Amino acid sequence: MTLTSETFRSVRPLTGDGRKLYIETYGCQMNVGDSEIVLSILQAEGFRYTEQIEQADLILINTCSIRDNAEQRIWNRLRDLKPLKKSRHVLIGVIGCMAERLREALIEREQIVDIVAGPDAYRDLPRLVREATDGGRGVNVLLSREETYAEISPVRLDKNGVSAFIAIMRGCNNMCSYCVVPYTRGNERSRDPETILAEARDLLASGYKEVTLLGQNVNSYRWESEDRVTDFADLLAAVADIDPRLRVRFATSHPKDLSDKLLETMAAHPNLCRCIHLPAQSGSTRLLQLMNRKYTREWYMDRIEAIRRILPDCAITTDLIAGFCTETEEDHAQTLSLMEWAGYAFAYMFKYSERPNTKAARHMTDDVPDEVKTRRLNEIIALQNELSLRSNRADVGRRFEVLVEGTSKRSDRQLFGRNSQNKVIVFDKGDHKVGDYVTVEVTDCSSATLLGRAID
Ligand code: SAH
Ligand code: SF4
Ligand code: F3S
Repeated sequence: MTLTSETFRSVRPLTGDGRKLYIETYGCQMNVGDSEIVLSILQAEGFRYTEQIEQADLILINTCSIRDNAEQRIWNRLRDLKPLKKSRHVLIGVIGCMAERLREALIEREQIVDIVAGPDAYRDLPRLVREATDGGRGVNVLLSREETYAEISPVRLDKNGVSAFIAIMRGCNNMCSYCVVPYTRGNERSRDPETILAEARDLLASGYKEVTLLGQNVNSYRWESEDRVTDFADLLAAVADIDPRLRVRFATSHPKDLSDKLLETMAAHPNLCRCIHLPAQSGSTRLLQLMNRKYTREWYMDRIEAIRRILPDCAITTDLIAGFCTETEEDHAQTLSLMEWAGYAFAYMFKYSERPNTKAARHMTDDVPDEVKTRRLNEIIALQNELSLRSNRADVGRRFEVLVEGTSKRSDRQLFGRNSQNKVIVFDKGDHKVGDYVTVEVTDCSSATLLGRAID
């Protein structure tokens, strides 16, 4: 007799057995993708997904450690869940980056936590849930060198059915001195391109129109098989070739590895979206060195010039950190001048938050006073608002192809979607619907949104 998963199941009861699972996701897009993998693993065990936390038999909180305030949010959330845990029998699991970093504190401090699972331990969740169901605690935070969940089909949690994430790699080897990710997610590994292409094709077949390929540094994607090597540009071209009507985005690009080959691949495929997220972190070469970013201000500017040359209609967005160790007013002024020069369409902006055990925490002093960090961050935010407005104003009068994602929050007579540059455009509905490509002429804007009218 061949043992199939069916025979296996007939001798072992499913862990879920109709119980209801609720998942809450914090942190980056990788975590959104991971929650979908976790759901897939647990649904195969007989769990049913619920959006009502009050009905759940198992609550999973997928966590983030990137800054201290991200972790504080989770501690508060766990505190809020205490009454629920006391009022009835429910299992609570903490998964993701904070589970990895704070396993012991979670177990010792939080009596309500039954399960702790790190980002590489999700296949083990059925066993961990079983242990917790039997009254014990299920804990696994082992990191792996190989795990990419390659063949697991994520169960999509997004609502729009138009745009989905595909994780193409996991972990990070870059060791930026401020960053906790290499510790919480382990070393970098790429996923088999065939499984990525299969996932993209499945999404297209089920009506999706846009995929975003995800990794901490997608430019270092690399897969070697017997007869060939696939780098990120090769992978992008292969995904783009699936169908010209499938839009393809990616995040995040590390500036040190952004190649002309990648930009030329984008230029050759109109469905590779014209937006590159290129986190600068700082405009000062001295600070970039302390951050271990492995590029200089000049290298970064050269990469932006390459984008402008090869992809003239490409939007550039970034991440910036204010107040990293030893940052002077002069360093800060260099960040502002880089922003001005680059004319970012959008930016994520943060105050430096020291993370325990990182290189910066071990060897540098977090010496910029909090009020100085706040003031510098506010200056960065004020400048970015101006730059976003300037960038949006330049689009007024232009026409874009917009992929419709949903109904506008302000009015159900309006739809919103994005153009290739990843800018949100709101316009009157007419006969259009979610999932349509619509040509829209921009008529007005704020610093956050473009307003337009459909012209077909
Ligand atoms: N892999 C991506 C970024 C992942 S984290 C990259 O290298 O670009 C997202 C952003 O969080 C980072 O770009 C950085 O701007 C910010 N960040 C990371 N660690 C931080 C810290 N300790 N304090 C403040 N911001 C931080
Ligand atoms: Fe963190 Fe740097 Fe890796 Fe990005 S590239 S995840 S900032 S270590
Ligand atoms: Fe946070 Fe982990 Fe992502 S620390 S930003 S959830 S990789």
